Amino acid sequence: MTKPYIPYLWQKMEQLHRQKPVSGHTPGHKNGIFLPEPLQSAWGSTFASYDFTELDGLDNLHFSTGCIAQSQQQAAEIFGAGQCFYLVNGTTAGLQASIMAACSNQSVFVPRHVHRSVYHSLLLAHAQPIYLPLELDEATSLPLGISADTLKQYMEDYPDCKHLILVNPTYQGITADNVRCVQLAKQHGLTVIVDEAHGSHLHFHDDLPQSLLDAGADLVVQSWHKTLPVLTQGSALLVSQDYSGPSPGPFLSLLQTTSPSYLIMASLEAGSIYMGQESQMHIADSLQAIFSLHSRIADTCQTLRVLWNPAWKQDPFKLYVLSDRLSGAEMDEYLRVHHAIYSEMHDNNGILFILPVHTTEAWAETIYQALMALDRYAQKKISEAADKPAASFYCRKIPDQCYPLQEAFYKEKEQIPWRNAAGRTAGQFILRYPPGIPLLVPGEVITREIVQLWIASGGTKEELVTVLTK
Ligand SMILES: Cc1ncc(COP(=O)(O)O)c(C=O)c1O
Repeated sequence: MTKPYIPYLWQKMEQLHRQKPVSGHTPGHKNGIFLPEPLQSAWGSTFASYDFTELDGLDNLHFSTGCIAQSQQQAAEIFGAGQCFYLVNGTTAGLQASIMAACSNQSVFVPRHVHRSVYHSLLLAHAQPIYLPLELDEATSLPLGISADTLKQYMEDYPDCKHLILVNPTYQGITADNVRCVQLAKQHGLTVIVDEAHGSHLHFHDDLPQSLLDAGADLVVQSWHKTLPVLTQGSALLVSQDYSGPSPGPFLSLLQTTSPSYLIMASLEAGSIYMGQESQMHIADSLQAIFSLHSRIADTCQTLRVLWNPAWKQDPFKLYVLSDRLSGAEMDEYLRVHHAIYSEMHDNNGILFILPVHTTEAWAETIYQALMALDRYAQKKISEAADKPAASFYCRKIPDQCYPLQEAFYKEKEQIPWRNAAGRTAGQFILRYPPGIPLLVPGEVITREIVQLWIASGGTKEELVTVLTK
């Protein structure tokens, strides 16, 4: 029997809602009454009538002592943390606050496949990154993360560096050596901060790769909105019971809006209770449905396959489908146009779906039928695009640096066409979205190879790129 959890915040919102309050306060739609068309027709006024602000009894995210504090503490318990901070500005805000709290003006180990929000956090924290080279899969050029051996070597080479950032899992769901990296880092007394944007569900079933909070990490930031049934922007910062460094709380107050959305916070609370009460059962059913989907694709599709390598300790809720006939863009277009199925992203290798934590047989069947149709279409079509080797948009080695990130970010810049960029110094983050992982960051040298990668990934020589003025 799972514990009955209490919707502390939602109860208070419901109580207030029952009074049919007349709004003499923000927001200007006055509890949904003045919501403009066509939103009024589509939503009715109900949804917006819960779009409260800090009214009596509803607590205050920045100084929480009432229902929000209780709700966050319960969520911490559900996710196995000492403390939980609700985030209304996504994981971005949580990473910024964590890195500012733990690493301000200090050096920190940073793997090269971090999302741009980590670099933005480094800038805000005036932290000095020591980049860790990635393991890349030869066939697909996908980043596998950093190896424990690499980390060990770097800890020996930089004994003064006392912080480590990890990404768990990658966009494609790969966790690889991450647990060992946390164990090693903790043995050496490092603070471990984890971008677990895509791993909010990992804590809830033993057959999933481990959440790094459970492996001993200190500050773990999760985009609940990405994989749990939570509204967009709803994320959480989980603090380990053993963390004794500076609190990220004051930094969150600095960074987040003073008007946090109660819709998002209520959805965070409901999402956490759902995970605490129901998710284990749903995840167990989902795993059956997902692995049966893998088998059916392997048995019946002639041109498609699921990327699945047990050594990479992948998250099954990321379904990454590769084709030997079509590019990811062509697969994506076919599914959108003919089946109204929108993937999370596509790249040279294939398409990536994020499956719901309650993946039913019916859901899996919808995906399977669409993939079968895609397979039949692909059998008749040999595309030139699929013959091209997958262009890696990740650095195999750490790029040469002219200026440290912090210095380069504030230096004078100009815009030039990509055709003239080789030999110049990047003045911007050079990335593709998704996945939002920079190939180069300000201060690093744009080589011919980087220009070629930009073109191979769909860019043109005429496009402008921001570089540092000489
Ligand atoms: C790996 C990773 N980290 C961090 C983020 C930022 O998360 P959020 O959009 O919740 O701010 C993203 C967003 O795509 C991401 O993919």
